[in-house]
Amino acid sequence: MNPKRRPLMAGNWKMNAGGREGCDLAAAVAKAAKECTHSDVLVAPPFPTLAAVAHVLAELKSRVGIASQTVHEARSGAFTGEVSAAMVREAGATWAIVGHSERRHGLGESHELVAQKAKAALDEGLSPIICIGETLAERDAGQLEAVLVAQLDPVMDLIRESNGRAVIAYEPVWAIGTGKVATPEDAQAAHAFVRKKIASASPEAAALTRILYGGSMKPDNVEGLLAQEDIDGGLVGGASLDGASFGKLILASEAMARKLS
Ligand code: PGA
Repeated sequence: MNPKRRPLMAGNWKMNAGGREGCDLAAAVAKAAKECTHSDVLVAPPFPTLAAVAHVLAELKSRVGIASQTVHEARSGAFTGEVSAAMVREAGATWAIVGHSERRHGLGESHELVAQKAKAALDEGLSPIICIGETLAERDAGQLEAVLVAQLDPVMDLIRESNGRAVIAYEPVWAIGTGKVATPEDAQAAHAFVRKKIASASPEAAALTRILYGGSMKPDNVEGLLAQEDIDGGLVGGASLDGASFGKLILASEAMARKLS
């Protein structure tokens, strides 16, 4: 963490916590985030729960933000099953996760398609959280940096022009949902590499852009990760589904930001 950047703790609910359960979880997150003055918090519910969560957070006058878990790259049209950036904004989101590895690898989303989705989000006034990260086979083959460059290149102009609105989430695929967290040193090395890559296009954008870590972040490893200079928060799956666990992550991020301020 670096005092120049406001940390962000983002809960990615994936295909969990629909309906009433999502509303209750949002209320618990709002309660945990009530005293957050130095850090940002958001939740990413599944599409059908997004508007209901927005309603709960608005009733509680909460500053917890809302993200969609993806958006379609087009504004509207004959795309059965898809949802546009404008639609999620109307439902109450101000953020959109794009390029999560479960979509890149599970659904074949290419680097270029992810860039189109990030652009669609920005054009609609949403802040994209652009996920990148290597598989274990790629890491073992010494391809970490080449993979990150290939994923970053198509979004580099967007990052440069977004004035810090676009966020990167570095999520090593082998650490997602596996309980295998990257060591703080390995995560920091990847984050520093990403920041250096952004700096080669724009030093201003590199200083502004928040780079989140994702992959089995939990209350017992959050402090070590957030203590790293280039880790500006977390994109959290499993631990964000439990109000108490996510509350601890929110408090850890807020406490560290206050100490550094
Ligand atoms: P995890 O998921 O925290 O359950 O590893 C992170 C993510 O996929 O964003």
